[in-house]
Amino acid sequence: MSPIFLSRLVFDLIAAGLLLFGLSYWWLGNVAHEVAGTAMFLLLIAHNVFNRRWYGTIAKGAREPRSLFNIVVTFLLMLAMLALLVTSVLISNALSGVISPYAGFTVRQIHTLAAYWVLVIVSVHLGLRWPMIMGVARKLTGITKPNAVRTALLRVIAIAIAIHGVWSSFELAVGTKLSMQMTLDWWNFEESVAGFFIHCLAIAGLYMCLTYYAMKWLQARKRRPRSAAAVAENVHQ
Ligand code: HEM
Repeated sequence: MSPIFLSRLVFDLIAAGLLLFGLSYWWLGNVAHEVAGTAMFLLLIAHNVFNRRWYGTIAKGAREPRSLFNIVVTFLLMLAMLALLVTSVLISNALSGVISPYAGFTVRQIHTLAAYWVLVIVSVHLGLRWPMIMGVARKLTGITKPNAVRTALLRVIAIAIAIHGVWSSFELAVGTKLSMQMTLDWWNFEESVAGFFIHCLAIAGLYMCLTYYAMKWLQARKRRPRSAAAVAENVHQ
């Protein structure tokens, strides 16, 4: 594995961390939020420069369900990120003296809406790359052979995270945020800071799990008709 690819993954990890930090607006306030958001957007520009070749493959790419889904998710992510970027500029305190003239209620609501959709879509984006991420983890830890106990343990952990993620979605009222409903139940950071991040991570884990296992199911479905055809062929021979 090349050191450049590894550092790209470290940048991705930092961008994901900054996204979670951005969601915790009421923890450290506006300045920290705007600095973290700016750093995240800069990292994501670099991320897209590194991945620029992928855009060239879209037109010629295979039209199997996974690659179509990947294309749709990437463009939805781009749309949500652009909405987040445009609303950030409109409501930024730093860019407008103190309070931006566009810092209206609706723009702020669209900003929050885009942020929570970004959390969900980035998680799907990562779920699609989970086999690659697991491959990197195996290389870094020197794991070369499959192990049934380890696989079973990791699956139990994944299921536990997904169940926690369902609970966390209710705790953070993610449904109301994804549907732009008025909500007053913001997280109380004076009570717990770690709790907020654990809930966000569990929600991300839930969508990663759903995506990863949905892709596995799609792949298994794709393989099945072929083996059925092979069986039929053998019967006729
Ligand atoms: C916090 C946000 C994000 C995280 C954590 C993230 C993570 C990742 C990771 C781990 C990879 C594979 C390794 C790599 O190439 O670096 C990847 C690939 C990619 N990402 Fe992101 N990403 C994020 C945001 C975005 C955004 C906003 C876009 C633009 C729409 C984007 C577009 C892509 C593309 C085009 C690829 C290559 C796709 C492929 O090879 O199938 N990502 N991302």
